[in-house]
Formats: sequence, C-alpha cells, structure tokens
Amino acid sequence: MRRVVVAALALVGFALGGPAVQAEPIKVKFAHVVAENTPKGQGALFFKKRAEELLPGKVTVEVYPNSQLFGDAKEMEALLLGDVQVIAPSLSKFDRYTKKIQIFDLPFLFDDIDAVDRFQQSPAGRALLDTMKSKGIKGLAYWHNGLKQLSANKELRLPEDAKGLKFRIQASDVLEAQFRAIGANPQKMAFAEVYQALQTGVVDGQENTWSNIYSQKFHEVQKAISITNHGAIDYMVIANAKFWDGLPGDVRAGLDKAMAEATQHANKLANDLNERDRKRIAEAGKAQIIPLKKEEVAAWRKAMAPVWKKFEADIGKDLIDAAVTANRSS
Ligand code: LMR
Repeated sequence: MRRVVVAALALVGFALGGPAVQAEPIKVKFAHVVAENTPKGQGALFFKKRAEELLPGKVTVEVYPNSQLFGDAKEMEALLLGDVQVIAPSLSKFDRYTKKIQIFDLPFLFDDIDAVDRFQQSPAGRALLDTMKSKGIKGLAYWHNGLKQLSANKELRLPEDAKGLKFRIQASDVLEAQFRAIGANPQKMAFAEVYQALQTGVVDGQENTWSNIYSQKFHEVQKAISITNHGAIDYMVIANAKFWDGLPGDVRAGLDKAMAEATQHANKLANDLNERDRKRIAEAGKAQIIPLKKEEVAAWRKAMAPVWKKFEADIGKDLIDAAVTANRSS
C-alpha cells in the first residue's frame, strides 16, 4: 500500500514538474557481540560513518554491539531471515555452514596475526569468503582481533594443569577437540554468557584475546591468564547475499568502499587495542599474567597437535599447507 502511495506521489510530482519524491534511505543493521571499544566494535562504527558519508540520504547504518540485537545463538539465523543485514562472527562460529573455515581454529597454526593476514589475503584465503554463497551468505571481508590467551581460576603453565577443568568455548568442534586433547572439559557457550559462567563457577576458564578479556571483565573473575598465543580470534564480516547483491549498483559500490576502508581501519587498530588492554589487565592487578617459557609453550603445542590430523579431511591438506606457508614472511 505504502509503495503505491509513494509511486502515486512521485507521479503527481512529475506531472506538476516538481521534484520526484525522495526514496527512503536503505537501512543496514550491523549486529555484533563485543564491546564498542574493541577492534570489531571500532570497525563497525567506522563502517557506519563512511557508508553514511559516501551515500548521504541513500543509506543509514545502525550498529548494535554487545549482543544487544542478536547474540551468538541467533545472529546467523537472523541474517538469513533478513532481520539483520551485516554481522561479523568470529571465524570459529561457521562450522555449521562450511567445514573449510575450521582451519582458523587449528591450534598453533599461525605464528602471529601478520601470518593470519597473509593467509587471509592469499588466493586460498580469499576463496573462503565465497564458500557459503549457496547458503545465502556473502563474505565481505576479514577483520582481525588477535591471538588467544588461556585464562582459568588457577595458574596454567603446562597442559597437565588444565586437566579436568571446564572451559567455555565458542561453537566450534575444533576447539572442542583442542580442549579434549589436554584432558579438559569444553562447553560451547554464547559470548554474552561467559562472564557469569566464570563468576559462578559454571566453567573454570576460557580462551580469548586481551581486548575481549578486558572489555568483558573476565580478568576480574579469573585467577590467572597464561600467554599462550595458541590460536587466533578473527572475523568474517558477512552479509545476507540476496540483500547485498540486490542493492542498486551505486549503493553497493559505496558500501563496498566503506567496508574496504573499515577493514583497513579495524585491522590497523587491532594490535594496539590488544596491547593496550593487556597493559590495563596487568595494571588492574586482578588476574595474574603468566608468561610461559619456550619449553612450556612447546608442551601445549605438542599436546594439542593431534587436532590437526583429526580435522585434516574436513579442511583439506592443501589448505592447511597454504596456511602454514603464510608463517614465512615473503
Ligand atoms: C567469543 O565468542 O569468544 C568471541 O569470539 C567473541 C567475538 O566476537 O570476539
């Protein structure tokens, strides 16, 4: 009905020689689960700013942080239903949609975030953005957060120290296998529930980046954080494919540009924000930060190594080899 009225008004305007009725701006809802003062939070706000500057009156972007609109359990479904247009789940949350992306969860695969970046930008890494097309999901970009650290209600120096402890994990079978490999009990849980679960002892520990640990206050309810750097938390920014591909050409081009700029912005910030939050955690003096010796890190790596073989068939050996190659700077 509304469309008919708009069309009729446009016709009258045209007949009277007046300006055509301005179409309503296209609304893009961007939902995510972390705080605003994190790499992803900042990237989303930058995307909004640039999209609205590049497409004035044509697009409005609404950003919903902190699982406000949809949390882990619902955001993918909401995207497919068109209730939200853009989300940026951690790469650990895609295994129901594509097995290949599980590669990012293999423990100790990447030496640092630069290696993660080199792999993501390689032809093999770029190709992963398109692996969910048939499911209606369009991969727009990779955004960095950082490497994961292991926290618990006791000091963890060697894998044996984690034996029998309950760890919250993201919804990833690889992460489940990683914790089973060290004799711990993993529990899949939405990000928004982690603080309370740690506080009440539903779980004993978790793995996350410094920026997520600090912004969610996990350090206030954990005894110690071991510097393990045993994996990465990065994101794929995704859109409802039908929505994105159906946008008018000029709008899509503007949003693509805003996304490219937001990607650069978030990725440039990621290391600094994690470093800043590592210092803030140290200053807060609640959880003890434990640097590990080389031999200790080697013990974690060895204990978790069988996970690679377990998922090799799903992920593909070629892909794993391509990722390993990214560890050597070109
Ligand atoms: C988590 O669920 O632990 C994080 O990956 C959340 C996020 O999006 O960084």
